[in-house]
Amino acid sequence: MIIQFFHHCILNASYKPDKTLKNNIIFSKITADDWPQIMAIENQTYPNPWPLKVMQDCQQAGYQCIKGTVSTKPNEIACYAFLMIGFEESNLLNISVNPVLQRQNIASQLLQRLLLISRINHAKNIWLEVRASNQAAINLYEKFHFKQIGTRKHYYQYIDASGQKIKEHALIMSRKVNL
Ligand SMILES: CC(C)(COP(=O)(O)OP(=O)(O)OC[C@H]1O[C@@H](n2cnc3c(N)ncnc32)[C@H](O)[C@@H]1OP(=O)(O)O)[C@@H](O)C(=O)NCCC(=O)NCCS
Repeated sequence: MIIQFFHHCILNASYKPDKTLKNNIIFSKITADDWPQIMAIENQTYPNPWPLKVMQDCQQAGYQCIKGTVSTKPNEIACYAFLMIGFEESNLLNISVNPVLQRQNIASQLLQRLLLISRINHAKNIWLEVRASNQAAINLYEKFHFKQIGTRKHYYQYIDASGQKIKEHALIMSRKVNL
């Protein structure tokens, strides 16, 4: 009877792949050896990539500089982030996923880790700025209950790959660390 019940469940359950079981990420601190891989990802993912010096300054300043690797490929950087912790606040400065690994729940795992780090460091609120046209990132933050609380007009000003001068607003988004 019990066996029949389980057979019934197995045969009738519609198979739904669970993205959260894929690509388990191992997090650790960024080291000097990681800069070439990180810069390669940075240059592929942003129209206005950070220079290496800015990343090194974050590390020098003692910010949380975190990388993630997929457990099966420990030498390949899958994602990274820079988080500045202040008094009862944290500020997400950069979060990036290797383009070949995007849409596989990796940023979500990294963001969960950054919220944990913020919590451990007694941050009450977490803040970030995002380009107004960066819908993928805005969706990610909204999924994690960030709300837009302001706009910085023409915050991003850069020359894009085709040599065009770009001016773009930044959305300021925030959420409580503990919801
Ligand atoms: C934004 C970014 C970090 C998302 O990384 P990711 O690992 O692909 O994100 P996840 O797979 O964890 O997706 C989580 C949610 O983000 C949103 N999202 C991610 N990529 C998206 C895309 N291309 N289009 C629309 N929504 C997207 C979705 O809401 C998604 O949830 P869903 O899969 O249930 O729909 C990644 O696209 C990236 O590195 N972009 C370039 C760097 C960047 O812009 N960083 C943000 C700076 S503010």
